[in-house]
Amino acid sequence: MPPESSNDLLLLERPVEGVLIATLNRPEKLNALSKALLGDLTAALAAAKEDGSIRAVVLTGSGKAFSAGADISDMVERGVESYLDPERLEHWHAIEAFPKPLIAAVNGYALGGGCELAMLCDLIVASDAARFGLPEINIGVLPGDGGTQRLPRLVGKSWATRLILTGEIITAAQARDIGLVIETTEPDRLLKRATALAAEIASKAPLAAQFAKQAMRAAFEKPLSEGLQVEQEAVKEAFKTEDRAEGMRAFLEKRPPVFRGR
Ligand code: HXC
Repeated sequence: MPPESSNDLLLLERPVEGVLIATLNRPEKLNALSKALLGDLTAALAAAKEDGSIRAVVLTGSGKAFSAGADISDMVERGVESYLDPERLEHWHAIEAFPKPLIAAVNGYALGGGCELAMLCDLIVASDAARFGLPEINIGVLPGDGGTQRLPRLVGKSWATRLILTGEIITAAQARDIGLVIETTEPDRLLKRATALAAEIASKAPLAAQFAKQAMRAAFEKPLSEGLQVEQEAVKEAFKTEDRAEGMRAFLEKRPPVFRGR
């Protein structure tokens, strides 16, 4: 396992085998998503993608926020150019395209772009202290990093409309009740729980997990008939892997499988 590493804006640690925790670390600005912070996150995910020893990533925030969203100061300074900044948009696309399982451990505020970042993850676990919302309407804009598309898909039109048009901020328990969050925990158990979930996923066949993620993404993007095609292609790819042969052989031999990510 490589040593723990960090820079100013993003802290990286390897708590258990197979799992990387990336912590957004701009607490004095509630982890507002400056281009530099998004860039560091993108770079860390690019490295994690290539590192076969990392099989799942947990994303969390330091201080009292997961992230309070896009950097409002930069939007005031640069106007729409801040939003349309090609590098910023490229960072979002790269996070979206990250192929390995990504779990958001939402420790506090997940607002605007912070909530949209959590929704880019495959699962959201939240501390009881977490708060979710898309409050862009309060500053004269609307969610612009996927919120108007992903929130209705995740929680349905009624709750998405309520949250986006009122800017209401909801509790972790409400977010769980509407299906945005899979599980809530006491604040001091959040990382332990998210890490355990990531470790459980990391113990499974890693390539199958990536194929499954890819196929599930199609469920949001394509009509059913095309999504089923994507699923079939993914299964065909899974059949080509050594891990598939190992998994099925291990089952018949009544022993635990040893997955190597090949
Ligand atoms: C830049 C931010 C910020 C943000 C907080 N800060 N959120 N800076 N961008 N999104 C800064 C504050 O200015 C302040 O800096 C410091 O962080 C602490 O925040 P406070 O407001 O003092 O904390 P608190 O009183 O506890 O209130 C917490 C809060 C509030 C309720 C979360 O900060 C808040 O409402 N933040 C904005 C949330 C939001 O509207 N997000 C959506 C952004 S738009 P100083 O220097 O004063 O200490 C978006 C998408 C836009 O995400 C894309 C489409 C156009």
